[in-house]
Amino acid sequence: MIVEPRQEDWILARKIHDTFRKKPGAQHIASAFALAHLSRILNTEKPRKVLELGAGIGTITYLLASHPCAPGKIVSTEENAFCLGQLERNIPPEYMSKVDLVTVPEEIVHLDERFDLVIFDSSHDEFDISNLLKEGAICFVEGSRKPTRKSIREKLERIGMRCDFTNHTQGRKLVHVYTRRWNILGLSIPKIRFFKSIKGCWIGRVERI
Ligand SMILES: C[S@@+](CC[C@H](N)C(=O)[O-])C[C@H]1O[C@@H](n2cnc3c(N)ncnc32)[C@H](O)[C@@H]1O
Repeated sequence: MIVEPRQEDWILARKIHDTFRKKPGAQHIASAFALAHLSRILNTEKPRKVLELGAGIGTITYLLASHPCAPGKIVSTEENAFCLGQLERNIPPEYMSKVDLVTVPEEIVHLDERFDLVIFDSSHDEFDISNLLKEGAICFVEGSRKPTRKSIREKLERIGMRCDFTNHTQGRKLVHVYTRRWNILGLSIPKIRFFKSIKGCWIGRVERI
């Protein structure tokens, strides 16, 4: 599944990311890139029920609840006490009232719901959430999260379903590591250089095998 954000998605994503990156605990927030892709999914797919695993300090939660195509049902999980405090500060009550916050993530496996979009931004790969997915549902993985994608595919396979993820990449950047600085004519020469992937996202649609 390929998602191509439009200008409106980029503008909204950068605005939200810019606000949240200044907040306490912002080191793990979703990238503007991921937010733009999610915004496009909300605009085109108009998912009615969304499950967000790992609300953190609320960057994605805010996008979901404030979006012009906000889903009718948003279930978000978060158990970290610091993040729960930040969520309360960062999401205005009119948006938070649209969110069912699950503070014991284990409980989601018992939900009697099928979601149209599931966002994976936590490390709870042990949960079998295949019963919460249905044919046509979208799985959105923030960042790389290889074990998460593997776990989703394995659990879906057991029930005769599959999800082929497409990497939406921001490309790579050249990283310079100065293990020792030489100053030759005032120039610093890096000792090691290598390419590092810039965090993107992976998106797939659930299908029957
Ligand atoms: C990648 S973070 C989720 C980020 C979130 N989706 C956002 O964009 O704001 C995944 C998990 O890390 C934990 N976490 C995130 N930020 C944290 C912080 N500043 N301190 C402690 N735990 C944090 C939370 O339990 C969260 O569910």
